[in-house]
Amino acid sequence: MKTLSVDHLLGIKQLNENDLHLIFETADHFKEVINRPIKKVPSLRDVTIANLFFENSTRTKLSFELAEKRLSADIINFSAAQSSVKKGETLVDTVNNILAMKVDMVVMRHPHPGAAAFLSREVDACIINAGDGTHEHPTQALLDAYSIREKFGEVAGKRVVIVGDILHSRVAISNIFALNKLGAEVKVCGPKSLLPKHIESLGVRVEPDLQKALKWCDVANMLRVQNERMDKSYFPSIREYTQLYGLTMPVLESVKHEVTVLHPGPMNRGVEISSAVADSDQAIILDQVENGVAIRMAVIYLLAAKLIKPEHP
Ligand code: CP
Repeated sequence: MKTLSVDHLLGIKQLNENDLHLIFETADHFKEVINRPIKKVPSLRDVTIANLFFENSTRTKLSFELAEKRLSADIINFSAAQSSVKKGETLVDTVNNILAMKVDMVVMRHPHPGAAAFLSREVDACIINAGDGTHEHPTQALLDAYSIREKFGEVAGKRVVIVGDILHSRVAISNIFALNKLGAEVKVCGPKSLLPKHIESLGVRVEPDLQKALKWCDVANMLRVQNERMDKSYFPSIREYTQLYGLTMPVLESVKHEVTVLHPGPMNRGVEISSAVADSDQAIILDQVENGVAIRMAVIYLLAAKLIKPEHP
């Protein structure tokens, strides 16, 4: 059996191209499974997974939970808001207490960059990063690239522009790593104040003009303006941002070829993307969500295969 080169999924940075193709091929199988009348396989009957969410989530949390259930894993869910973290317990103590209940795998979303890597060094369990601050969101990038592969047959050679708040976006960083490893060409587009200073060192080009970026690309990945991560104002007003970087139907139709539109969610309709675009045939936003379950099943399945389980007594 082919295996991943890593024991944890901390970021796309640590994966190689073979890992990405292996995850996609495994997800192809699970996508077929979740479209059957019986959407479940018994693969992970002896694996227990804890979902630890220290930050809000709709898609990622539900998608992981469903992926785990469809693999027949036992799961426990932890939400920081109702936990003893509120009483001052450290992250390592919290997780070690959960692991004492014989948990094999931890899926964690945390507001601090590097939290998943830290945990992987401190505790004895397989760690999957479900988004750590502004650092990485590996399963989002995997499902984005998988959705591009599904639409075009392959990712290599495709031109992808990532639009918007790149500065605060773990989705952008993970997408850049994944798309570069898969041989796509990547540009970023947004106000200068929302582009990291040395972004080109990650192997992308900057195109400040949305119209030019759209004329160049096959795929536009529209990012949300992450107000919750902003400590100051990065542009004069939402209205001005939308005028320059919002994707509307007239803007999309001004491009002569078809551009496929992605959005990681949650969407701010009327800000970075209009409702008409979000609900159009060019948008594959709900396909991304569907593919997220198959991708997360693949990641969990492949990492579970690397767990050394003790012999039954
Ligand atoms: N795309 C994404 O991470 O969405 P959630 O914050 O709802 O999980």
